[in-house]
Amino acid sequence: MNLNSRSGSWCSCFDFHRAKGNSVERRTLPGPDYFDPAIFELDREQIFFRSWVMVGLSEQAEKPGQWFRVDVVGESILIMRGQDMKLRGFYNVCRHRGSRLREEESGTENGALACPYHDWCYSFEGALVATPRVEKDEINRDAHGLRPVHLDEWQGCVFVNLDRETPVSLREWIGNVNPDMLTYERYDMGSLRMTSKSEFVVEANWKIVIENYCECLHCPSVHPELVELIPAYKTGWVFDPARDDGGVNSTSRNYGPATAANIALMPTVSEDDANSVYGGTIFPNCFIDIAATGVVISQVMPVSATSTRISSMYMFHPNSIAAPDFDASTLIAFSDMVTNQDNSVCERAQRGVTSRSFADGGVYPEKDEYVWQFNQQYLQSRDAR
Ligand code: FES
Ligand SMILES: [Fe+2]
Repeated sequence: MNLNSRSGSWCSCFDFHRAKGNSVERRTLPGPDYFDPAIFELDREQIFFRSWVMVGLSEQAEKPGQWFRVDVVGESILIMRGQDMKLRGFYNVCRHRGSRLREEESGTENGALACPYHDWCYSFEGALVATPRVEKDEINRDAHGLRPVHLDEWQGCVFVNLDRETPVSLREWIGNVNPDMLTYERYDMGSLRMTSKSEFVVEANWKIVIENYCECLHCPSVHPELVELIPAYKTGWVFDPARDDGGVNSTSRNYGPATAANIALMPTVSEDDANSVYGGTIFPNCFIDIAATGVVISQVMPVSATSTRISSMYMFHPNSIAAPDFDASTLIAFSDMVTNQDNSVCERAQRGVTSRSFADGGVYPEKDEYVWQFNQQYLQSRDAR
């Protein structure tokens, strides 16, 4: 997806006009940052195990005992709803001999979560509650509940943080990495429901995927259909320089051509917003595109140094979904086409950056402002502590 990529004012101190006229040349990351296994290991440890990482939607586990599993760059995590209706996150690892507890994508437990190896049972809140064939006082059950991860929710999205230290709250994190995203709370995205999810595996480093989202210099050449919908993108800017709210005018009220769907506006959309689209990233692995009829929430998860999974979740208001003529298939097909166009150039970039000739990287013009900002955010996190 690349409806709008205003990655926000993370670096508020930066005056990007300063770089005009090439007085300060901005460089991309060096080539090896996109494929070197040692850098990927740093990305796992420093970025993905120390940030709030988007892992799914609150609606994926609605009832007590319901859970879904997510792979956070090699760490399998279970997100499960407790009897108290709270969502929690746990390492998907039994405290007895380390068996993986669940291999399926999702499920609902009856009474307790039992390990398939020796039947040790955990409550929905993660406490070790039964150890069959083992005397009760042999093991200190209180000390061997499932290992938790930090979990927080925002606008219907679930984030986990694997940091051993207590992190800042998710909302504070979002306010730090992209305060513009907090202004989109006016859409009350938590009231929306997912009608479908599109999954993509891109043979490119995760940073190439995010960088591509953060710029629109490629839009006229890569997305000829999209720029007809959003004429401002023909200029190569990811936002409309004539507006000061980060929005872009669209000829359509949804993600596809105006004729593609007959979906009601979300009830939270003001008249001003009816013909606008907004979007942005939440560092490190989420981007959200907002149109007047619905929202696409995308989760980016590295699979390896050179492979990335993108899950795009299509969200609409329950009233829209309940309408007898609700049909989002054409706009989803349009949006998936745009994503495939993006993925194709990301893979092309990946093949290029491995060249020895790119070891010192490339160069950013002014319209790559948000790509550069993402890189600064990345380097600051990667090289911290
Ligand atoms: S490894 Fe889970 S019960 Fe033994
Ligand atoms: Fe794009």
